[in-house]
Amino acid sequence: MDGEIPLDQPHTSRVYDYFLDGKDNYEADRKAAEEILKVWPNIRTAARVNRQFMHRSTRYLAESGIRQFLDIGTGIPTEPNLHQIAQEITADSRVVYVDNDPVVLAYARALMMGSESGATTYIQGDVRDPESILRAPELVDTLDLSEPVGLSMIALLHFVEADIPAILSTFLDALAPGSYLVICAITADFAPEQVLPAQEVYRVRKLPAQVREHDEIVGWFTGLDLIDPGVVPPHRWLGSESTEFSAAFDAKVSCWCGVGRKP
Ligand SMILES: C[S@@+](CC[C@H](N)C(=O)[O-])C[C@H]1O[C@@H](n2cnc3c(N)ncnc32)[C@H](O)[C@@H]1O
Repeated sequence: MDGEIPLDQPHTSRVYDYFLDGKDNYEADRKAAEEILKVWPNIRTAARVNRQFMHRSTRYLAESGIRQFLDIGTGIPTEPNLHQIAQEITADSRVVYVDNDPVVLAYARALMMGSESGATTYIQGDVRDPESILRAPELVDTLDLSEPVGLSMIALLHFVEADIPAILSTFLDALAPGSYLVICAITADFAPEQVLPAQEVYRVRKLPAQVREHDEIVGWFTGLDLIDPGVVPPHRWLGSESTEFSAAFDAKVSCWCGVGRKP
C-alpha cells in the first residue's frame, strides 16, 4: 500500500477510524486525532453516536421498504457496516459504497462481502462530482434508479467545502420518488469553543472542514418530506440507544442529522 497512498498525511477516514478505536490508521492520522482530542475531548462520543445513527437510519429505511442504498463517505469498514444492517432486514438489498480515500478502497474490496442474494459494490469517487458517481458502471450495474434508493451522506458533508444544495439536487434529480436522503454533519451551534478549534486542526493539515448551522442543514432537505423528528442531534433521532438527552450531551455530540423522503 505504501508508495500508492500518502500515509504521511492524515486523512479524515483514518482519523475517524482512530476515534472509533479502529486499527486502520497511521502515525499522521493519530497525531492529527490527538490534536483534535485536545480541543474537542468528546469527539469519540460524537463518532460513536454518529455511527449509531447510521445503524438506526439504515434500519428505518430498510423497514420502510428501501432495498437499494447509495452510501457516500462510507469510511473504513467498521462492523456492522451499512449493507450488513440492510441485508439482515432484507437479504437481497443492493448497496453501492463510495469514498475518496484509497485506503477505504483497499479495505472495501476485502471486507464488504454482501449476502448471497444481495449485492454490494464500491466506487472510489468524490461526492463533489455526482455525475461521475451516477454514471459509474458499478452503480449502473447494481442499482435500478427507476426504483427508490436510500442516499446516505453520514459524517461526510462537514468535509466538503462546495455547493452542497447543487450536489444534493444532482443526486436527488437522478433518484426515483420515494427515495430517501440521510445526512449527519458537524455543527458549532452547541460548543463553538471546542468545535471551531477542531475545525482549525483539520484545516492546518490541509484537510477540508466546514461546520454548518441548523438552518443551513434544514435547507438541504428542501423539496423533501422531512421525517420526524426533523433535523436534530443524532442521539435524539428515533429510538436512540442513548439515554442522555441533556443539553450537555448535545454539546458533546455537536452534530445535526436528518432524514428526508422524495415525494
Ligand atoms: C467520518 S467518515 C464517515 C464514515 C461513515 N459514513 C460513518 O458515518 O460512520 C467520512 C468519510 O468521508 C470520506 N470523504 C471525505 N471527503 C469526501 C469526498 N469529497 N468524497 C467522498 N468521500 C469523502 C472520508 O474518506 C471518510 O471515509
